[in-house]
Amino acid sequence: PAVETMLGIDELEEAAKSCMTARAVDYYSAGSCDGYSVANNRDSFRKCRLVPRILRDVSSIRPQTTIFGVESPLPIYVAPASNAVLGHPDGELNITRGASATGIVQAVSAAASYSLTDILDEKDRVDEESGRKMGMVYQVYFQRDRSKTEAQVREAVEGGVQALVLTVDSNVGDNRQSTEKLKGSRGSAEPGVHMDPITTTPTFHDSRLNWADIPWLQELAGGLPIYLKGDVRRAKETGLAGCILSNHGGRQLDQARSGFESLRSIHAEDPQLLKDFEVYVDGGIRRGSDVLKALAFGARGVGLGRPFLYAQAAYGDQGVIRAVRILENEIVTGMRLLGLKSIDEITPSMVECLQEVWK
Ligand code: FNR
Repeated sequence: PAVETMLGIDELEEAAKSCMTARAVDYYSAGSCDGYSVANNRDSFRKCRLVPRILRDVSSIRPQTTIFGVESPLPIYVAPASNAVLGHPDGELNITRGASATGIVQAVSAAASYSLTDILDEKDRVDEESGRKMGMVYQVYFQRDRSKTEAQVREAVEGGVQALVLTVDSNVGDNRQSTEKLKGSRGSAEPGVHMDPITTTPTFHDSRLNWADIPWLQELAGGLPIYLKGDVRRAKETGLAGCILSNHGGRQLDQARSGFESLRSIHAEDPQLLKDFEVYVDGGIRRGSDVLKALAFGARGVGLGRPFLYAQAAYGDQGVIRAVRILENEIVTGMRLLGLKSIDEITPSMVECLQEVWK
């Protein structure tokens, strides 16, 4: 079906799945162990209801904000996700083009299928074409061989990315049972160039990683803001620019709470912390209403992983653009129906959360 017929993020996922191999679908969709966290990422939003304000003039709406220090027309960004080529030969380059066309920020994964050089070249090309500088941030994994990480970070910084995202929840790989089952005689189902041929575990898993390693990256970043996927309070104390609350799309620690649940718990304990520090959320965001719920509890913006992987798998860069337009329409319509002129008007009292239950 034509890309214009796609009306929701789930439809793009369905379209992608019909043209992807079983291995690729598994790689994108997999969660670890029982998949509780993948499912709960979405459920945690479904359990919360919106409470609109009525009879407000919402003829003019401002959904703009700043994401990782970069101006963004919408409070969303592309979360870093590996192996985009599994879905489409242009992989991450589709996302670069789509993000540039719509003005949203692309977070490039340290385990992207295209090399950072290729992605930065595409960024330069689209920047020249559009006459604007697109928002791009680079996600770092501390590799076992630290010199590789150093080279990547230097290239990203020199290539003009506006910030770094540090992911530390993958210090070891987790048990993705569905993926193990598919491996069969074809070897690892986690394809790509990032596998250590001897141990067959990705070279970015470093179980020695700890807080004492952070200053090394801060030094290397040379003042570029660093956003940590992890602990908000400690990230602030360490002098980082902000934090992303995430459970890695349910792909690492199964039964870990969702990013949205973490946000709500921080909001309940210390709402001021969320005013003083930039906090983002990802995991299970599929509708504009999910975005607004996260913003209500103090998130600066939200990341989406699988939606953009699937969108580019189904329709290349046009799929990425379509995904952003769908979300934009839902965010703007949602704001109007909630009686919000700008995103800083949204408050926690506009969301009512029901009792948590495990399914
Ligand atoms: C990811 N994610 C991820 N995160 C990261 O920091 N580096 C990475 O290389 C990857 N790779 C990756 C691959 C795939 C296939 C998925 C689905 C996810 C996690 C990602 O940044 C984000 O946290 C989740 O994708 C958010 O959940 P949703 O939007 O996929 O539900």
